[in-house]
Amino acid sequence: MQFEIVDHPRPRSAEEIQNILADPGFGTNFTDHTAVVDWTEQDGWHNARVEPYGPIALDPAASVLHYAQEVFEGMKAYLHNDGSIYTFRPEANAARMNKSARRMALPELDEQVFIESLEKLVTADKAWVPGGEGEALYLRPFMFATEAFLGVRSAKEVSYRVIASPAGNYFGGELKPVRIWVSRDYVRAAPGGTGVAKTGGNYAGSLVAQQQAVDKGCQQVLFLDPLHENAIEELGGMNVFLVTNDGRLLTPELTGTILEGITRSSVIQLAKDRGLVVEERRITLDEWDTGVRSGEITEAFACGTAAVITPIGELVDGEHIIASTGTGEVTQAIREELLGIQTGTVEDRHGWLHRL
Ligand code: PLP
Ligand code: COI
Repeated sequence: MQFEIVDHPRPRSAEEIQNILADPGFGTNFTDHTAVVDWTEQDGWHNARVEPYGPIALDPAASVLHYAQEVFEGMKAYLHNDGSIYTFRPEANAARMNKSARRMALPELDEQVFIESLEKLVTADKAWVPGGEGEALYLRPFMFATEAFLGVRSAKEVSYRVIASPAGNYFGGELKPVRIWVSRDYVRAAPGGTGVAKTGGNYAGSLVAQQQAVDKGCQQVLFLDPLHENAIEELGGMNVFLVTNDGRLLTPELTGTILEGITRSSVIQLAKDRGLVVEERRITLDEWDTGVRSGEITEAFACGTAAVITPIGELVDGEHIIASTGTGEVTQAIREELLGIQTGTVEDRHGWLHRL
């Protein structure tokens, strides 16, 4: 698909960009451009372009505003020492976006068009990729229903966009273990629901739980299984791993209610490469807590594109602090290896990098 490039009349100066990149934070600054492709039931995908970043004119009746028909992705572009820019496993994000799109009755986008949209946007905004430790240009592809129609059915007009935002540590400041709030009042997803899709409604439903977490001095919320059987599922925006003292890595199995993280699947591969045994299975909160007390579980970490790999320090379950672990060696080693591959300092032996 041919992308038309619409130049920005007043792109930010090199100095303005440098000021932003000096302390990128997470998700607050956006680059000068956005990639867009439109879809209608009649014409399919068309009108691919890279245009200046700015507000979108949307009809107040657009169905995304009423019925939340939308999906999104999260990925990053990394600056390598020689100035080249790469992204990580983009075909996996393309496939996941299409899986989410099928669940949300949105049209699928060709993988090549998805990847091209990233290439074109990052080429237009290449000055915006930060190069500090743990920093990258966060890419947010998303697709939403623009048709103005209040009946409840899948929209016949849809827009796909990509925006980009320079990013440092998701949790702010230096990397340190995070505190997690165990959500007892709210579940994230149920069997047959939308938990496996990366769709806004899952996040909207998590916000009240996330607010409870923040009120309790925690940075993220841990969701348990919807049947109240005490099995761990995932965090608001990350998957979870536990490390045992005999070289095993435990992570909840993919049941259809958790997001199938691309970082998760990469961690599983890197762990196997190191000779660790990976167990994808049901894990209860009690197993986690008891395991930490007995010394069998020695580390816990969260992983995702935004969070990379972040050690989990303690869990707050109501009035109790349980399952406390610090930053461990396995967490640190896998984090360094993954970041090394992404930033080009460790060999990409699985062919995960894609040059933008
Ligand atoms: N779980 C949820 C709910 C997420 O939002 C994310 C982030 O995208 C993840 C897990 C991790 O997925 P990935 O590693 O593909 O970024
Ligand atoms: C990501 O990691 O890309 C996400 O979408 C999660 C969100 C917490 C930013």
